[in-house]
Amino acid sequence: MNDMSETSGRNSVEIRQLDLSFGAVKVLQDLNLDIHEGEFLVLLGSSGCGKSTLLNCIAGLLEITDGQIWIKGENVTWSEPSERGIGMVFQSYALYPQMTVEGNLTFGLRNARVPKDEIARRVARAAEVLQIQPLLKRKPGALSGGQRQRVAIGRALVRDVDVFLFDEPLSNLDAKLRADLRVELKRLHQQLQNTMIYVTHDQIEAMTLADRIAIMKGGKIMQLGSPDEIYNRPQNIYVADFIGSPSMNFMAGRLERGTFVTEDLRLPMEDYEFSAPQVSDGPAILGIRPEHVVTGGLVQSAPVQTSVPVDLVEPMGSDTLVYAQLGGDKFRIRMDGHATVRIGETLPIGLVPAKGSLFDKTSEKRL
Ligand SMILES: Nc1ncnc2c1ncn2[C@@H]1O[C@H](COP(=O)(O)OP(=O)(O)OP(=O)(O)O)[C@@H](O)[C@H]1O
Ligand SMILES: [Mg+2]
Repeated sequence: MNDMSETSGRNSVEIRQLDLSFGAVKVLQDLNLDIHEGEFLVLLGSSGCGKSTLLNCIAGLLEITDGQIWIKGENVTWSEPSERGIGMVFQSYALYPQMTVEGNLTFGLRNARVPKDEIARRVARAAEVLQIQPLLKRKPGALSGGQRQRVAIGRALVRDVDVFLFDEPLSNLDAKLRADLRVELKRLHQQLQNTMIYVTHDQIEAMTLADRIAIMKGGKIMQLGSPDEIYNRPQNIYVADFIGSPSMNFMAGRLERGTFVTEDLRLPMEDYEFSAPQVSDGPAILGIRPEHVVTGGLVQSAPVQTSVPVDLVEPMGSDTLVYAQLGGDKFRIRMDGHATVRIGETLPIGLVPAKGSLFDKTSEKRL
């Protein structure tokens, strides 16, 4: 049995062998996660994978079935939410409609009998970082959605806490406001340097905000890593497929003495960085991101060259997405916005296998 009383000191939140069941339904299983001091950690996963449940366990709003939760070196597994030093922003933020913005921000602090000048100091700071000073005397009914959302975040900020928990705080907003608030949140974290745990199912939010991302599926963490690691070195097919839009292309084949072989192509993998020094031959899957397929003048210098029939073209402005077929499977290619490609044409392409991700077909793990 490992000694769970030991904490590294560098960690703000530590989750040890956490189990959570609702009746017979196991939602979180043997989950372990260390969140560093000052880190922006994003929990990312599809609907129902257990993100909110995990956040609520950390907040103390759910009683866990087994395991331990440590915050700042203290075992808080059985502590009340108010004793955990956390501030939470819920997805459905309810502001008090009859109170002004200032009233909403200070309500909790007044109840906790925080001294007046201390309240004023914290409100001023939160209002400044969230740029809501001009709104303090207004009521929520007279605010836009994005302004209300900022007040909800402000309500958590004025509490002087070590760890902020956010559950999809931007999901009610339109795309433009979301992008604006995303930038503000990032700036906020850079200023405050608090630990932030942020739940989303939006991969752009995850990639742009996170120091590290935990990708969850069925109550388990499939990969924990920096956005760069998650994107460029996905550890399994689930993560590779989940992250990136449009998705990675997958080709089925065999690894044979350092070459990935499909029915039609031979892709030399000698420049590929294998995860282990010894990788045995056998059925494998090669994943290639749409932006790593080269076209035009670059095809000639690519290690592998072929051509694909074009099914569909989607001009996106900044780039053009081309949907084609390779070996009978759908194959997506990202080209620049000026590319002129027509449906039905045969497009010469070049592949750079070393930039791809190779997986064992059975275990679906990265090779
Ligand atoms: N009180 C409950 N009783 C029974 N099952 C629950 C309860 N709360 C959540 N669940 C189940 O637990 C699983 C995880 O739910 P959770 O709310 O954590 O998902 P999520 O990842 O936050 O999803 P979303 O992105 O949709 O918010 C789901 O299958 C859900 O149906
Ligand atoms: Mg949720």
